[in-house]
Amino acid sequence: MTQEKQPITTNSAVPFPSTAVAAEAARDDAGIAKEDTAWTDRPEPAAGLAPITVAAPTPEPQDTAEGAPGRAPKMRADSISVFYGEKQALKDVSIQIHEDRVTAFIGPSGCGKSTFLRCFNRMNDTISGARVTGRIELDGEDINSAQMDVVHLRARVGMVFQKPNPFPKSIFENVAYGPRIHGLADKKADLEGIVEKSLKRAGLWDEVKDRLAESGTALSGGQQQRLCIARAIAVDPEVILMDEPASALDPIATAKIEELIHELRGRYAIAIVTHNMQQAARVSQRTAFFHLGELIEYGRTSDIFTNPREERTQDYITGRYG
Ligand SMILES: Nc1ncnc2c1ncn2[C@@H]1O[C@H](COP(=O)(O)OP(=O)(O)O)[C@@H](O)[C@H]1O
Ligand SMILES: [Mg+2]
Repeated sequence: MTQEKQPITTNSAVPFPSTAVAAEAARDDAGIAKEDTAWTDRPEPAAGLAPITVAAPTPEPQDTAEGAPGRAPKMRADSISVFYGEKQALKDVSIQIHEDRVTAFIGPSGCGKSTFLRCFNRMNDTISGARVTGRIELDGEDINSAQMDVVHLRARVGMVFQKPNPFPKSIFENVAYGPRIHGLADKKADLEGIVEKSLKRAGLWDEVKDRLAESGTALSGGQQQRLCIARAIAVDPEVILMDEPASALDPIATAKIEELIHELRGRYAIAIVTHNMQQAARVSQRTAFFHLGELIEYGRTSDIFTNPREERTQDYITGRYG
């Protein structure tokens, strides 16, 4: 299969670090090529189908619902169904997410993306009437077992929501709260160190280091969202779930969140829900497309956007619905 390397084209006004993305794609391929042996060719793209182009990577095996060959997943969802009362919102979804990749969940509004994301740290437990069947593993361990401490689980699998939701406390306390309740820092200096490191990693330190005592809610929307990311990072998570983390933000703040996701990749497994296909193409290496509660297709982001297997995926990425 020959594919030309094409520049990424987007309709959005968001500044776009295309060289960074190309480098990420190369890094992704390098890592995979060493580990995987099989390679499944895809058919050539249908004529005229290239609404979103991403840097063409070298061939690698396609992830399937069963995962990537030869690699242990960070998290594995197996035959997940979710019901709200009588209504089934998610139908028998299986997927694996890996620690060195960003996985995007896309699909039209109401298709079950948020419902599915919440399964990974049992946030559906907090919704009355919600019932989850199937199995979810974190490092091979059943997260729904009686032995699993759900507070600890949510520290290991952190979450960032669509609307920034800082506590009505100081910037410092927003980040220090989690490490303190999880007993991660005995001494004041240790706690200060964690706060600084987390704010630096979230790309917010320089903007707030002289105003740590001010309220987190006084920050701009984009800063608040980075504060929420710092808060998730502070408890040393292994996985970060993001549910449309930039959809309430302006284009500049959105670009900062996207850059941050690039920087965090490799350190944490990241799963991001987005209804913005350009964003999925920019930030992720794997994309899962959902429609009406079903997982329609899961694969390399470049394949999903340039050479999908399923007609429903093609219809969605070409804007036929959604
Ligand atoms: N708390 C809830 N109670 C009842 N139905 C819900 C609830 N949350 C979501 N749903 C329904 O489940 C389906 C999937 O919703 P959701 O996961 O929020 O989709 P998405 O995030 O893809 O927009 C929708 O039909 C929605 O109305
Ligand atoms: Mg949603």
